Amino acid sequence: MSLPHVFITRRLPASLEQLQTIANVEVWMERQPPPYDILLAKAQAVDGLLCLLTDKIDCELIAASSLKVISQMAVGYDNIDIAAATAKKIPVGHTPGILTNATADLTWALIMSAARRVVEADKFTRAGLWKTWEPDLLLGPDVAGATLGIIGLGRIGQAVARRAQGFEMKILYTNRQRCAPEVEKLLNAEFVSLEKLLQESDFISIHTPGSEDTYHLLSDREFALMKPSAILINTARGTIIDENALYRALSQKQIAAAALDVTEIEPLPMDSLLLSLDNLIITPHIGSASQQTRKKMAEMAIANLIAGLKGDRLPHCVNP
Ligand code: DGY
Repeated sequence: MSLPHVFITRRLPASLEQLQTIANVEVWMERQPPPYDILLAKAQAVDGLLCLLTDKIDCELIAASSLKVISQMAVGYDNIDIAAATAKKIPVGHTPGILTNATADLTWALIMSAARRVVEADKFTRAGLWKTWEPDLLLGPDVAGATLGIIGLGRIGQAVARRAQGFEMKILYTNRQRCAPEVEKLLNAEFVSLEKLLQESDFISIHTPGSEDTYHLLSDREFALMKPSAILINTARGTIIDENALYRALSQKQIAAAALDVTEIEPLPMDSLLLSLDNLIITPHIGSASQQTRKKMAEMAIANLIAGLKGDRLPHCVNP
């Protein structure tokens, strides 16, 4: 009996040995993702696809494919048309849970960096501008005791809230559903409307999935509700923020600063006006980028793929 074929859209930080015992494996070796036409052709020739958030797995690709399983190495899957995959009975796997701490850690790195202007301070020093100790040099707000607004109190939002307890912060949150009273009590978190969260938070951190429902959740109206001292952090998905509105809010000092690990278009085009702002930090979608986390993500994605090839229920399946 011939082995099934799988296509993996990038080199992975995990061993493929086990997978290779049950499948013929082809790995895309380039640094850039496979172009759409190649992905489309591969999807028609293989049984299993292991993909990343950079790969567009749309309804056309799914409809034309011979895929029995799609396994995404990410917790988010807004690049995949889940409805189309479900209609074709193709299970889609993802990698929840294991990147929670790494993403919460990066969120905190960005909260602290934006508050204490670490990137600006580094540039200032390297530019030879450090001439003396100055009472009002590069001041930022206190993080301890401030109010943190969390949009989306799921796994990652809760991990961010747990870390905030060390800073004795007040937590406000919004979520699709209110969390259980034990969770609220443990995190000292208050369920509020988005409006109240925006009006009262000193730091606002986004942890909700990218979807049609959250597209441009934060735009001009929402920035107008925020405090002029507010600092906005996004380690979720770039589409949640209207970047033109963010540019206006930051350049007009309607809010104090922002730190983004994700942008509407990735990579952020080098002619983006956002890059001209001093009160903005941008990192290249590295929320889950710890060595241990990326290895576990790759292993979980391989395990989902193997289960799908064998016709078993995926350990971490997105479809209902
Ligand atoms: C995810 O997993 O969805 C992150 O954005 C990348 O690790």
